[in-house]
Amino acid sequence: MESLQNDLLLRAALGQKTERTPVWMMRQAGRILAEYRAVRQKAGSFIQLATTPELAAEVTIQPVDLLGVDAAIIFSDILVVPEAMGLPYEMEEKRGPIFPKTVHTLQDVAQLRVADPEADLGYVLEAIKITKRELNGRVPLIGFAGAPFTIFCYMTEGKGSKTFSVAKKALYTDPEFSHQLLQKITDSTIAYLKAQIAAGANLVQIFDSWAGILSPDQYYEFSLPYIRQICDAIAQTPPNVAVPQTPVTVFAKGAFFARHEIGQLNCAVVGLDWNMDIAESRALIPSKTLQGNLDPCVLYGSYKQIEAEVKKMLNAFGPERHIANLGHGVYPDTDPDKVRCFIDAVKAYSV
Ligand code: CP3
Repeated sequence: MESLQNDLLLRAALGQKTERTPVWMMRQAGRILAEYRAVRQKAGSFIQLATTPELAAEVTIQPVDLLGVDAAIIFSDILVVPEAMGLPYEMEEKRGPIFPKTVHTLQDVAQLRVADPEADLGYVLEAIKITKRELNGRVPLIGFAGAPFTIFCYMTEGKGSKTFSVAKKALYTDPEFSHQLLQKITDSTIAYLKAQIAAGANLVQIFDSWAGILSPDQYYEFSLPYIRQICDAIAQTPPNVAVPQTPVTVFAKGAFFARHEIGQLNCAVVGLDWNMDIAESRALIPSKTLQGNLDPCVLYGSYKQIEAEVKKMLNAFGPERHIANLGHGVYPDTDPDKVRCFIDAVKAYSV
């Protein structure tokens, strides 16, 4: 068993008692730190940075040193999976990701490959290995991937969208195409997450960022079964020396209607967004650790307001089976001092 100086996150994920509540933030690597922007400038672009393992490791560790979080999350993006399947992306300044080519027919799906993590995503695995070496056991490292449905959204739509109506149209008009593409993404994601675990990730999180645009029926048909396959595959992965059983976190933003069903998955942790009532979520998901769920906009408030909101959140979750986080990624224009206030308040008030 790898020895970690701070294993609060892993013990909380596994439902064990902890001295205090662990805390980290979705999208903590990048976005808010001037120190991140300096490295990004040196790299030239987001993709250059993400594909240069030494630099990716450097920005992964920055929040541990500068913010005092209880975990690092590997600096990468969910869109590296479609790229590894044969669909490259570009990152446009201010606009976000763009796929010049999109996927619409069964022939398009047939032309994609199931990602081979060693061959196609070796730079992420290398970044994980470097990060683990440089962290030297200070805190656990979180690996991640997008949920198949969220990746499907980008592969069919080609860019971000409020409605993802191209993606949803495919679900209604061509379910066979949709299921074939979702299965290929799922097979790629399983191989990728297993490789991240073998490279040293201590916990992996599945981001279903666009879950909330689906109706419950569509969610149960087109998203949940594929997340279930991923959770089951990881649960069956033979333990490696470092990790006896790697916990999985499922974060399905906006899927308040599916909390009970998500709680039945073979995962250790369920992430909540800020729309989800904490007591109601505990009742719906009685057997898992919950992660979340402060509104990221609270960090625009005063220090006093942040402390008061953190106390309220900690009281609602209680001292066990909770990993403190925001209800979605931290917003890019958040003051790092307010972020430190959030982290410090969790540490101070959860003991
Ligand atoms: O959590 C972390 O800090 C690790 C790094 C990380 C990034 N993207 C880096 C990134 C993680 C976990 C992601 C996940 C991701 N990427 C998601 C799921 C989480 C969520 O927020 O719902 C999604 C939907 C994406 C797709 C994506 N990548 C978008 C929509 C954008 C543009 C908007 C934005 O977030 O800035 C990106 C770009 C991206 N990914 C950046 C970073 C640091 C900004 C690029 C830059 O530095 O120019």
